[in-house]
Amino acid sequence: MKRLGVNIDHVATVRNARGETHPDPYKAALFVKKQGADSITIHLREDRRHIRDLDAKKICSIKKLFVNLEISTNDNIVKNALKIKPKFICIVPENRNEITTEGGLNLQKNKIKIKKIISQFRQKKIRTSLFINPNIKDIYLSKEIGADCVELHTGYLSYLIKSKRNISKEYLKIKKSAILASKIGIEVHAGHGLDYKSTKILTKINEIKEFNIGHFIIGESIFHGLTFVIKKFNRIIKN
Ligand code: PXP
Repeated sequence: MKRLGVNIDHVATVRNARGETHPDPYKAALFVKKQGADSITIHLREDRRHIRDLDAKKICSIKKLFVNLEISTNDNIVKNALKIKPKFICIVPENRNEITTEGGLNLQKNKIKIKKIISQFRQKKIRTSLFINPNIKDIYLSKEIGADCVELHTGYLSYLIKSKRNISKEYLKIKKSAILASKIGIEVHAGHGLDYKSTKILTKINEIKEFNIGHFIIGESIFHGLTFVIKKFNRIIKN
């Protein structure tokens, strides 16, 4: 069964715009789970622009909630994440000036550091995923580094779909990467920039077991509400 992970970072973005406490990401995590999300994703960024330490701590303490905590390889963030102890970790690249995560990890450059981080999380029985660009070299490197899962960056595919360009080359890259990863024992996830249309296209790739979707879900919920949007995604992903 394919899973839906809902990224609730932008609930915190709205809260922080006012500097007050509403809307509360903790409450959003509980609500989103109730509406049918299989897991919650939160990104504890180095600049804390949306999710903050206390949010992460409270959300990760919710019983029977699968939380996927996205973090960079920054030493302090890793230390915090080891204390917070989520069920899952997804290591992502982070650049202070970016609007959102741009591209996957540079595994070749950072493999020693990432390998060490994965083993620290493994000792705490936390499953680790690596956010990578869809290419064969990075799948083999993910295996060498010891990742349990990879999350394939779907940002470029989503851009091509939204701008009505030819997607065949990028789609094939994602498909080949997903097939190889699955064959060598790495679970495959997908995320970034996804909406109804791009998610539906990617559900044709059986090896993708989890979709992590944030901005579109929160944005679309302004018009239709979280309940409707989550149910619609579940119909797309699970049919
Ligand atoms: N997956 C990862 C690893 C991400 O960094 C993000 C953005 O925080 C997402 C998925 C969700 O992307 P979007 O908000 O574009 O759906």
